[in-house]
Amino acid sequence: MPLLNKHDRRPEHREARIVGFLCNWCSYGGADTAGVGRYSQPSDLRIIRVPCSGRVNPLFILKALLNGADGVLVSGCHPRDCHYAEGNFYARRRLEAVKRFLPTLGIDPRRFEYSWVSAAEGGRWQKVVTEFTAQIHSLGPSPLMADAPEFDFLKECGI
Ligand code: FES
Repeated sequence: MPLLNKHDRRPEHREARIVGFLCNWCSYGGADTAGVGRYSQPSDLRIIRVPCSGRVNPLFILKALLNGADGVLVSGCHPRDCHYAEGNFYARRRLEAVKRFLPTLGIDPRRFEYSWVSAAEGGRWQKVVTEFTAQIHSLGPSPLMADAPEFDFLKECGI
């Protein structure tokens, strides 16, 4: 997938707004490993590092989507590898419930995904983030933000 230019205003070339909640111990390390290994990745993901996937309150996901994120990805340690023993077991239950609840709010459940990626799995991280980003691009911009003006983050920051 070609990298998108954040300054290109054409809708089909626009970066998606994807929020990623990544567990500090595994998936954040996996993303780092992918970067160090020079795996090419789409640049649409805005990463928020959390101590454990169990720390991700379902409201974080709902608020992101309701405030116009095109997609949300949560990623943590593989089951039985959680550094807090059972955080990702709680997370898995909650995240699955969120996924099933999204249609009730009128949100396509394909806009939310969760995965398990260890710190050593740079290649797996690349696959997860690339596939999810492609899925979000195929769905298009969030319908909640369809009429909102384009927000130029760099311009707003004076860059
Ligand atoms: Fe990574 Fe719990 S520490 S999911």
